[in-house]
Amino acid sequence: MRTVVFVDDMPEVLRMLQRTLDPIKGEWDMRFVGSASEALAVLEQGAVDVLATDLLMPGMDGLQLLKEAKVRYPMVVRIAFSGQQGQGLGLRSTDLAHQFLEKPIDAERLRSIMARACGLRALLADDQLRTVVTNLKNLPSLPALYQELMNEIHSRDASLKKVAKIIGKDMAMVTKILQLVNSAFFGLRTTVSNPEQAVALLGSDTIRALVLSMQAFSQFDGVALPGFSLNALWQHGLKTSGFAKVIAQQEQAPQAMVDEAFTAGLLHDIGLLLLASNKPEDYQRVLKLQKDNALLDWQAEQEIFGVTHAEVGAYLLSLWGVGEAIVESVAFHHRPSACGDSVFSPLTAVHVANAIAESENSAGGESRPVQIDEAYLTKLGKLDQLAAWKGACQPDE
Ligand SMILES: [Fe+2]
Ligand SMILES: [Fe+2]
Repeated sequence: MRTVVFVDDMPEVLRMLQRTLDPIKGEWDMRFVGSASEALAVLEQGAVDVLATDLLMPGMDGLQLLKEAKVRYPMVVRIAFSGQQGQGLGLRSTDLAHQFLEKPIDAERLRSIMARACGLRALLADDQLRTVVTNLKNLPSLPALYQELMNEIHSRDASLKKVAKIIGKDMAMVTKILQLVNSAFFGLRTTVSNPEQAVALLGSDTIRALVLSMQAFSQFDGVALPGFSLNALWQHGLKTSGFAKVIAQQEQAPQAMVDEAFTAGLLHDIGLLLLASNKPEDYQRVLKLQKDNALLDWQAEQEIFGVTHAEVGAYLLSLWGVGEAIVESVAFHHRPSACGDSVFSPLTAVHVANAIAESENSAGGESRPVQIDEAYLTKLGKLDQLAAWKGACQPDE
């Protein structure tokens, strides 16, 4: 049984939590404590899986508790409750908490977050995955320009001008972004000619996602494998991110979720590059196996490596400190059912977007197995939406 510690200085909040979480007391060992110091004492005893804390508390507050837990118990999943609107906003830009939950707390959502976070952690801690990843010679580093952008976007006096200035330092990046912005893909009516305009039109989060994936991809420039194209993979990522964004918008998801879907779409197959560039001979066997047996890429990878590009990519992104929702979308993009989730999320958007993008690729070619996990969509109550999503992803001519 997994253990969760809830921390809140208000006894009535704890009582309410206890009542609403009563139905899951068979699945979780739940501890309720009234202060950060009591929480630390429980953590000290070990075997805690999730720490869920209020932020505003007398004495040591939730922020300090999260900080402490991050250093001393890095494997514990950290959830923060944010009270008044905006209270958790500053925190969102740090990696002190893996997940945020607005008060009043929705028990069903909390339960799903707890289960998903533990599932992702277990997946990334898998021995086989660790062995594969530690055997890769070149783990690309977090792109420096991206880090700089992150810092700027999260600073108090962030401005589009400054964001544009940072991108402007890298001329190759400017050229690529302008090319992309002006391509039919973004459907803008005007021609964009400078980075500031591009940032204003796309928004700083979209620009940041583009920078991350462009720089991540450029670290793989030397990959040369017959039957494998870096450019095709980049185009596929772009298409998937565009579709994922459209799907999230169709669901009227909040802007942050739309952005996460877009970023996760761009990066969902990054693990493929990692495997192909580090293990070219093995990857050649993957491609052959895939062709000979009409398998999907990830099924062939599973045979050869024991893991797939989905987990490998998720592992890299979590090392880079990319947000949990994005890591999760990448990790489960082929098999969303394995995530154990029951509400629409960036993962849903990326899973469906990837399948649509793939099916367009193979149009006219040999038929491929169905890749949309209908059981998962049914569980979410979203199967009926599929046709509308597909329609929204078609170019409107
Ligand atoms: Fe994939
Ligand atoms: Fe894909």
